[in-house]
Amino acid sequence: MMEEELNNGIQYFATDINPHAVETTKKTLEAHGVHAEVMLMDIASALENRLAGLVDVVVVNPPYVPTSEDEVGCEGIVASWAGGEDGRTVIDRILPVVDKLLSEKGWLYMLTLAANKPSELCGLMMKKGYASKIIVQRSTEEESLHVIKFWRDPDSEVQIKKGSAHKGSPTSVFSRFSRFSFSGQSK
Ligand SMILES: C[S@@+](CC[C@H](N)C(=O)[O-])C[C@H]1O[C@@H](n2cnc3c(N)ncnc32)[C@H](O)[C@@H]1O
Repeated sequence: MMEEELNNGIQYFATDINPHAVETTKKTLEAHGVHAEVMLMDIASALENRLAGLVDVVVVNPPYVPTSEDEVGCEGIVASWAGGEDGRTVIDRILPVVDKLLSEKGWLYMLTLAANKPSELCGLMMKKGYASKIIVQRSTEEESLHVIKFWRDPDSEVQIKKGSAHKGSPTSVFSRFSRFSFSGQSK
């Protein structure tokens, strides 16, 4: 049976570089009756060539903990948290890939840590024509986490072209909009 028939017309893909994570993801999806193509591969290794402009929703829970660069992409469990400088090494590789994967109406949901400088990430994505919004913020004693939603927004490109979003640091750009929104429109 085709994947599309199994999932009400929706096709799901997942990637991880850890074979144990791939197996666990497969079992979890099966337990929930979801059929997906789970690939043992780096998310930034040419997936965008196969699926360019075809993906409507991307969900990324990246390795976001600030670590030494040596630990990034290591075999095993270390790769699940090791994010390099500011925890941004993997995130910064993923964002251009997601830009290619997403359809015109596509959304990206990404989990980040405060140390990843979420407002700077929103500023970077704004330059690519994306609006953004922090949709969930949670703090524990150890970490402050955000889920950021990104979507294409022509107003973001207009603001960048006019130069109105460039004055000051990305943080000051962030604060010019509502606390949780980084766009002309809210979604
Ligand atoms: C924070 S854990 C998230 C685990 C699980 N996907 C979840 O959401 O609970 C990050 C995962 O990303 C994987 N990973 C690290 N670098 C990657 C890369 N370049 N491409 C694909 N997966 C990667 C790690 O092996 C780890 O399983």
